[in-house]
Amino acid sequence: MLLDLNGIQKRFGGVTALRDGNLSVAPGEVHLLLGENGAGKSTLMKIVAGMERRDAGRMLWQGRAAAFRSPAEAAAAGIAMVHQESLLAPHLTVAENIFLGREERLPFGWVNRRRMIEQASRIIEEHQFPLHADWRVERLSPAAKQLVGICRAIQHGSSLLIFDEPTSSLSGAESEEVFRIVRTLRARGMGAIYITHRLEELRAIGDRVTILRDGATVHTGPLAEVSTDRIIQHMVGREMVASCRRQPVAPGVELLRVDGLTRRGAFQDVAFSLRAGEIVGLAGLIGAGRTETCLAIFGVHPIDRGTIFVDGQPARIGSPREAVAAGIALVTEDRQKTGLAVRLPISCNITMANLRQISRLGMIDGRAEGRVTAEYIARLRIRASSGRQAAGRLSGGNQQKVAIAKWLFRRAHVFLFDEPTRGIDVGAKAEVFELMDELARSGAAVLMVSSEMQELLQVADRILVMRQGRIAGELPGRTTQEAIMRCAALDQESTL
Ligand SMILES: Nc1ncnc2c1ncn2[C@@H]1O[C@H](COP(=O)(O)OP(=O)(O)OP(=O)(O)O)[C@@H](O)[C@H]1O
Ligand SMILES: [Mg+2]
Repeated sequence: MLLDLNGIQKRFGGVTALRDGNLSVAPGEVHLLLGENGAGKSTLMKIVAGMERRDAGRMLWQGRAAAFRSPAEAAAAGIAMVHQESLLAPHLTVAENIFLGREERLPFGWVNRRRMIEQASRIIEEHQFPLHADWRVERLSPAAKQLVGICRAIQHGSSLLIFDEPTSSLSGAESEEVFRIVRTLRARGMGAIYITHRLEELRAIGDRVTILRDGATVHTGPLAEVSTDRIIQHMVGREMVASCRRQPVAPGVELLRVDGLTRRGAFQDVAFSLRAGEIVGLAGLIGAGRTETCLAIFGVHPIDRGTIFVDGQPARIGSPREAVAAGIALVTEDRQKTGLAVRLPISCNITMANLRQISRLGMIDGRAEGRVTAEYIARLRIRASSGRQAAGRLSGGNQQKVAIAKWLFRRAHVFLFDEPTRGIDVGAKAEVFELMDELARSGAAVLMVSSEMQELLQVADRILVMRQGRIAGELPGRTTQEAIMRCAALDQESTL
C-alpha cells in the first residue's frame, strides 16, 4: 500500500471532525472519498498532506509510520494536494503559481525566471493543457485555474495526488479533461484520492471508494461492488426517496421580464420573462453568459442596452441595493467570496438580509432569530456545533448551505440562483429543491442557472438555453439531456 490510515481522530475545540478515519490507497489506484458536507473528508486529507496534525491514529506512508508537520514535508515525501478552494495568487503568472514557494534561487536570492518558465512550459506541454506559462492567473477561467493547481501538485514528482472537489466549478467537457489527467497519472502508477459530490462522475473515474459519515469510515471497498443508491445510503445514514420531478403550479402574473438585454462582450439581446409560481432553468456551457446575465439583472454590472421590467413596470436597477429594493434576490455562484460574512455566526448570516422578519419594535428578537436559525440548520442539514459558530469555520459545503439559507429566508419576489447545488451533498440538494418549490408555490418566481442537466430536468418548468451570449432556445421541462446539449452546443436546428 502507498498510504494506510487507521483510526484517525481530530477535534477542533468542541467540534469532532474525525472519530475513526480509515482509508488505504495502492499505487495506480483512484480512490474516491465520499461523504456529506462536514463528514471530515477535507480534514482527513489535510492531515495526510501535512496541513493539520492528527490527535490520534496511525498513518503509514509507503509502509513506514509517518506524520508530516507541514505541506512542504508531505510534498518532499511525494504527497500533493489540489485544494477545494483555489489557493492561487491571482496577480502572479501561471509559472509563478506553479513554483510558488519552491522557486529555484540564483545567487543573491534572485529567482531563476527563465528556467521557471521553461519548466512550467514543459509540464503544460507534457499534459497538453490549454495554458501558457506567462499568463496571469486572475484572468483564467475556473477550469484553467484548476489546471494550474494540478500542475502545481504534479511538478514535484509526487506518488500520491489528492483532489478535493476538482470538478465542482467545471463544465462537462472541462471535467472530462480532469478525468483524462487523472487517468494518465494512474497509468503511470501514481495513486490518487478524489473527493466529489457529483455522484454521476464516480464511475467515470474511481476504482475503490471510502465513505465517511460523521467523522468515521462507514464503508470501504471496490466501486464495482456497490450501487449508487447504496453509496447514498451510507453517506446519509438513512434511506432517501428517489428524487422525483416537481409538480408545476399554474403560473400567475409576470414578475420579471427582460427585453433586449445587452452587455457588450458578455451577452446580447437576452429576452425572457418569469411568472409567479415558475421555476425556470437557465442552461448552457460555461462562458455562455448565464452568470453575467444574472449579475446584470441584479445590478452588479451595468447593461449597455435593454430593459428590465419588474411587476410589469420598467425598472432602473443600477446597483444590488436597488435590485433588492425591487424584490430581487441573487444567490451567487461564488458564495464563499460574495455570500458570507465568515467571522459572523451562522445565525447572523442567515438573518442579515431580512432582519425585519425577526425584529419587534426595531429590536432583534433573539428567540425568533434562534428559531429561524435552528429551522434552516435542520432543514439543510447544516453541520455545526450551534447557530453561534462562525460561518468561516464550517466545511466548504456547509458554508454554501448557510449562504443559500440566507436568501431562502429573505422574502423576495424573484430569486436568481446561480449554480445553487455546487459543492453541497445529495441530501441537502433535495432540501434546496424543496425550498425552491416552496418559494414558487408561495408566489415567487425562480430562475435557476445550472450546469447539472439532471437537476434542471428535475425542477424546472421550462428551460432556457444560452449559447455564446444569446438565448439559443427554450425547451419544455420534460425534455432530455441530449436536447439541452444540442441547443447549448452548436446545432442550429435544435432551437425549438
Ligand atoms: N479549522 C477548523 N475549526 C473548527 N472546525 C473545523 C475546522 N476545520 C473543519 N472543522 C469542522 O470539522 C468538520 C469536518 O469538516 P471538513 O471540512 O473535513 O468536512 P468535508 O467532509 O470536507 O465537507 P465538505 O463536503 O462540505 O467540504 C466540520 O464540522 C467542520 O465545521
Ligand atoms: Mg471539504
